[in-house]
Amino acid sequence: MKIAFKPLSGRLTKTDLLIVISAEGKTPKIPSGVSVPPNALKSFGGESRETRFTDAVGGPASRVLFIGLGKGNEFDPDIARRAAAIAVQKAEKTDASSVTFWVDLALGKRATAIGQALGEGIVMGAYRLTDFQSTPKSPSLKKVTIQAQADFNRGAKSGEMIGGGNALARRLQDTPANKMRPRDMVTESRKIARLSPRISVKAIDEKGMEKLKMGSLLSVSRGSSEPAYLIHLIYKPTQKAKRRICLVGKGLTFDSGGISIKPSARMDEMKYDMSGGAAVLGAFHALAGLNPDVEVHGLVPTSENMPDGMANKPGDVVTACNGLTIEVLNTDAEGRLILADALAYADEAIKPDAMIDLATLTGAVVVALGHELSGVMGNDQALINSLVSSGEATGEAVWPLPIIDFHKKDMKGAVGDLRNISSPGTGAGSSTAGAFLSNFVGETSWAHLDIAGTAWGASDRDYQGGPKGTGVGVRLLLDYLRKQ
Ligand code: BES
Ligand code: ZN
Ligand code: ZN
Repeated sequence: MKIAFKPLSGRLTKTDLLIVISAEGKTPKIPSGVSVPPNALKSFGGESRETRFTDAVGGPASRVLFIGLGKGNEFDPDIARRAAAIAVQKAEKTDASSVTFWVDLALGKRATAIGQALGEGIVMGAYRLTDFQSTPKSPSLKKVTIQAQADFNRGAKSGEMIGGGNALARRLQDTPANKMRPRDMVTESRKIARLSPRISVKAIDEKGMEKLKMGSLLSVSRGSSEPAYLIHLIYKPTQKAKRRICLVGKGLTFDSGGISIKPSARMDEMKYDMSGGAAVLGAFHALAGLNPDVEVHGLVPTSENMPDGMANKPGDVVTACNGLTIEVLNTDAEGRLILADALAYADEAIKPDAMIDLATLTGAVVVALGHELSGVMGNDQALINSLVSSGEATGEAVWPLPIIDFHKKDMKGAVGDLRNISSPGTGAGSSTAGAFLSNFVGETSWAHLDIAGTAWGASDRDYQGGPKGTGVGVRLLLDYLRKQ
C-alpha cells in the first residue's frame, strides 16, 4: 500500500472510493466535481465512527464513504485513528484498489496531531498476517491518497511511519514461535538496519555473552536447542544528538516456563513473550524516517525458555554480568533473568542518559491494571512522568506502580545475593519484579514498562484488538523520543 499526500487545492483525481472525513452537525465538505444524492448528505450525522456509503454521480470518484469524527471541539486523535482504520477496512471489503481521504476540516492547532493519528490508523487498520495461509487473499488496496492542508499532511506522513513501526511489531508478535525464533529476531533487526545508513546492528552470540559473563541470560537459553542473542541496534540522527537513550525489550520468543512449567491451557499465548523486543524493533523501523534529535540504542535479549536436561533447575544459582548472584527459585520468572544482563550491559557499556525497558514480565500486572494500561515504574520520577504523558498523547496508556524498599528487601536471596521470586504472600508481583530489575541499572535513570496485559488481548479499537498482538510500546516510545 502506497500513500500519497496532496493539498486540498489540488484537483481530485480518479479514485475507486472517496472517503470524506467530517464532523458532527456539519454538512460534509466534498470536493468540487463530485455529486452525491442529496439524501446521503442529509441522513449522515457525522457522529464518531458513523459511516455512510453512497454512489457518486459522475466525477472522478466511483463511490463515496462518509465517516464521522464526532463534535468538532471534542475530536480526539484516537477517533481519527479509528475512523481511518474503519475506512481502509471498508475499502478492502469493497475491493477498492485506490482510495482518497478528503479532509476539509477546521482543526487549528490540532491538525498535525489528528493528521498523525489518521496516518497511523490507515497503516494499523490495514495490518493483516496472511503468511501462514495456504491461499491468502491478496489485499485489494494499493493506493491511498490523503488530501488535506499542509499541517495535517505533515502529521499524516509521520503517522504513516509510526503505523509502519506498529505493524512491524505486530507481525513479529503474531508470527508463531517456530517461525519467530531468537535467530529470526536477529534477521529482522538486520533487515531494519538495512533500511538506513543511520541504523547499525550487531548481534552478540552465546560465545560473546560468555565473554561478557552474562550467566543469567545464558542460564535461560541453556534449556533450549535454539541459541540466544543479545541484539544491539544503534540509531544516530543527522544532527548532533542531544541525548542518548537506551530501549531494552524482552525478546522471549517462547516461554514454556522451563522446569517450572506453565499449565498447558493458553500456553500458545507465550509466543507473545517477545513483545517488548518487538516494540523496540518496531520503534527502530520508524526512527530513520522520523529523524528525532536523539541517539537511540536498542537492546533485545532474545531466547526461548524451555525445559531440558540443561535447563535451569529451581534453586540453581547463576551470576549476572555485574557480578550479582541470583537464586533461580522459579524458572518461569525468566524475563527478569535475561533483562538483568541486558540492563547491566546498557548501564556499563552504553552509559545512556536514560533507559526504558519493556517486558511482558508478570501475570500480576494483568490483575492490577488489565489490558488497557501498561504498568510503569523505575528510579526517576521525571522519566516516569514523561512516559505517562506520552501514554496520554498516544492512547497507549501507562499507569505508575510503586517500587518500595520492602519490595527490594524481599528479593534478597538466602544463598545468593538475590532471588528471582518474592516470598510467598508478599503479593505485588509486578513491583517485586521491578525491584529485582532495579539491582541491574546502577545509577542510570531507568523506567520499566510491564506490558504483559497490553501486548495482546486488548479491547477492540478498530485498528487493533482481541487475541492478536497490539504492537504496544512503539507509538509510546516514538512519542517519548520525539519529545527529547
Ligand atoms: N511471560 C511471563 C509473564 C506473563 C504471564 C505474561 C501471563 C503474560 C501473561 C513471565 O515470564 C512469567 O511467567 N512470570 C511469572 C513470574 C512468577 C513466577 C514470579 C508470572 O507472572 O506468573
Ligand atoms: Zn515465564
Ligand atoms: Zn516470560
